[in-house]
Amino acid sequence: MTMTTPPVTGRVLTGDRPTGGLHLGHYFGTLANRVRLQRQGCELFVVVADYQVITDRDRPVSLPELRTSMVLDYLACGIDADTSVIFAHSAVPALNQLLVPFLSLVSTGELDRNPTVKQEIRTAGRPKVNGLMMTYPVHQAADILFCKAELVPVGKDQLPHLELTRSIARRFNDRYGPVFGLPEGLLGEVGTLLGLDGRKMSKSLGNGIALADDPDQVAAKIRRTRTDSERRISYQPRSRPEVATLLTLAGLCLGLDPRLVAERIGAGGAAELKRVVIDSVNDLLAPIRARRAQYGPPDAVQILRRGAERAREIADRTLAEVNAAMRMD
Ligand code: TRP
Repeated sequence: MTMTTPPVTGRVLTGDRPTGGLHLGHYFGTLANRVRLQRQGCELFVVVADYQVITDRDRPVSLPELRTSMVLDYLACGIDADTSVIFAHSAVPALNQLLVPFLSLVSTGELDRNPTVKQEIRTAGRPKVNGLMMTYPVHQAADILFCKAELVPVGKDQLPHLELTRSIARRFNDRYGPVFGLPEGLLGEVGTLLGLDGRKMSKSLGNGIALADDPDQVAAKIRRTRTDSERRISYQPRSRPEVATLLTLAGLCLGLDPRLVAERIGAGGAAELKRVVIDSVNDLLAPIRARRAQYGPPDAVQILRRGAERAREIADRTLAEVNAAMRMD
């Protein structure tokens, strides 16, 4: 798969699981790219992937609140709701119907080998793995292909799903005739942002800084992190991983190389390092907090309703094309 430099226009689709509170890993992995692409004139589709939430739950979750809070995260980041289509995939029946023919285009072996799914199974640590956990990447292909997206801004962990999406598009076209283009991935600034404990920043590990954290929460989380006792701060990911994680975070927020951040701190020690990280994160989050304050849940509900209407029109059209190509109509 090739990583493209983004075209100035074109259809972009990406999305997230509404499991509560997007964090800085999402921001640097994909959210910042979405806003940039939208400002460049791309047509932005964002899927609130509510069905993906139930891949690793065995109890009901209250999805309405999770969906609206995620839309509020998007608005806070600067995604323009007037020009984008933000929708929950559960609200678009024809999108979900695409899953059926798509499932016939993949082998169980390739589903078994998906490294991101394998990792999620390990993280979930459950005795049984349900069928949706194994097949949601095919459903994700429907998220991407229903609107014939050309570009998919994602974090590195999503690349296997994008590769599978491209295979499904290619196999569908080979078997039934040309319906789908092949979407390209666009990686964010960081492959995987490490959380405050040195593992991948993740909601389920509770090691992240949420976009909705207030300045005191940010400060408390960063003060709690482990560092070392060497006073001169240096960027050495192998020998000083904790310090390197903090320098990387500050560097991303400030738009600077982490080595440069280290040089600026010099012999200031862990206390000065933490002060710099706290300030840089809070400066990055300040405009995000200001935008968030302008919206409330009713705005999010309205946006999702409008987005679903538009997504349904497009999905109906694509499903009709698919059915025609398969001689099912
Ligand atoms: N799997 C993605 C995540 O966990 C969410 C997602 C669902 C997605 N559908 C998508 C991402 C389509 C990109 C494109 O964050």
